[in-house]
Amino acid sequence: MKYHIATFGCQMNEYDSGLLSSLLEGVGCQATSNTEEADLLFFNTCSIREKAEETAIARVSQYQCFKRKNPKLKIFIVGCMAKNKGKDLFKKLPYVDYIIGPDHYKEIPEIILKHKHRHLFIDFDETENYQGYYAKLQTPYSTSVSIQRGCNKRCSYCIVPYVRGKEKYRDAIDVLAEIQRAADQGVSEIMLLGQTVNAYHNENISFATLLDKISQINGIERIRFTSPHPRHYNDELLDVLISNPKICNHAHLPLQSGSDAILKKMRRQYNVEQFLSIVERLRKNNPLYAITTDIISGFVGETDDDFEQTLNVVREAEFDNAFMFIYSPRAGTESFQEKETLSEKEKWGRHERLVVIQNEIISKRNKLMFNRDEKILVERPSTKDPEEWVGKTDNFKKVIFKPNQIVHPGDYVVCHINDIRGWTLRGEIVGE
Ligand code: SAH
Ligand code: SF4
Ligand code: F3S
Repeated sequence: MKYHIATFGCQMNEYDSGLLSSLLEGVGCQATSNTEEADLLFFNTCSIREKAEETAIARVSQYQCFKRKNPKLKIFIVGCMAKNKGKDLFKKLPYVDYIIGPDHYKEIPEIILKHKHRHLFIDFDETENYQGYYAKLQTPYSTSVSIQRGCNKRCSYCIVPYVRGKEKYRDAIDVLAEIQRAADQGVSEIMLLGQTVNAYHNENISFATLLDKISQINGIERIRFTSPHPRHYNDELLDVLISNPKICNHAHLPLQSGSDAILKKMRRQYNVEQFLSIVERLRKNNPLYAITTDIISGFVGETDDDFEQTLNVVREAEFDNAFMFIYSPRAGTESFQEKETLSEKEKWGRHERLVVIQNEIISKRNKLMFNRDEKILVERPSTKDPEEWVGKTDNFKKVIFKPNQIVHPGDYVVCHINDIRGWTLRGEIVGE
């Protein structure tokens, strides 16, 4: 049987799609990128904002007609929206066969092999950690590994705890085994995943210790992680981040808002001063340390003044990049109870102002890379011009270069950065 997985949402879902691929291939299914020849179509969905659910539903709807062509075709909705909407999805999309939440992927092979009829499996399983199950590699040279599932924070706007359940940390031994296996297959870059990834602790192993242990695995050259929570940076962690050369000089550090009043309403558990002190410590020894962020514009109750404070923090922190969102009220969350104070137009207006300011900062930060020799992990030929290749620096900047030698995905080369236009860094290879 051939399967195809369409993944929406965050990197946790990308990882879970890899887990699902491993489970399916374990019972003899084969991946196909061609949806027309698939017997099993999976939609691994996201609920973070209203738009994410609308996009997934629109996509699934396109495949209703495929069932007429292939009566054996089975359609699965899995992931966060499966949990969030549950059996309502059967009503809305009656041609969908199975709705499976994030704690029930291990049941999928049995559903397929036993040709089970329409099925809904969405309750939380507080013990399910997929112990001993490893995801298919995302690329032969770089892959992500989930170390935490769920989230205990309950930020007032966020649906994640309601669709992913309570936080669960994987056994360090299991995490290290998955990374060792990836390294044995040629992977040199690992991205650790968790909603509050730096809060990781399991038995006596802290996140800092785990990072250290991973860096000792032969073949692992670069370690990344996302998303750390500002509340969980401590001295032990900052020391290892700064002193261990295999941990990349990039942190994705979600700010959400630059107003203490709004941060409090969001239940973020830090204030602006604490946030900026982490930024300062990370960049103290290395001004090129990249910090990226997430920001929500137009949260309930956000005043003009609160938003101005966000803009000020953005100017001060000089983020290397930012994912910027409009607040989307999510049923079931705490802030959903509160009446919105801003119109869509006002929320978009704030967002657009933020984007303009942040874009200027991106150019400014990128200019610091000019004339430097940077080690690049080679990824792939560029989609625009196949003679050019794309790679990433340690601090997560994309570099385009025309190779003067044969290169392969996964190689490391040193590029001299000799041209910067807005967001695009260009360079030439000057060494290995
Ligand atoms: N665990 C991460 C966030 C994961 S969700 C953290 O705590 O930072 C990714 C991002 O989506 C969040 O950082 C937030 O900026 C955004 N987001 C979450 N809920 C949202 C909502 N209801 N409306 C708009 N953006 C939201
Ligand atoms: Fe959502 Fe907050 Fe958990 Fe992040 S830490 S996933 S924003 S509840
Ligand atoms: Fe979306 Fe679920 Fe991730 S709601 S952001 S896919 S954890």
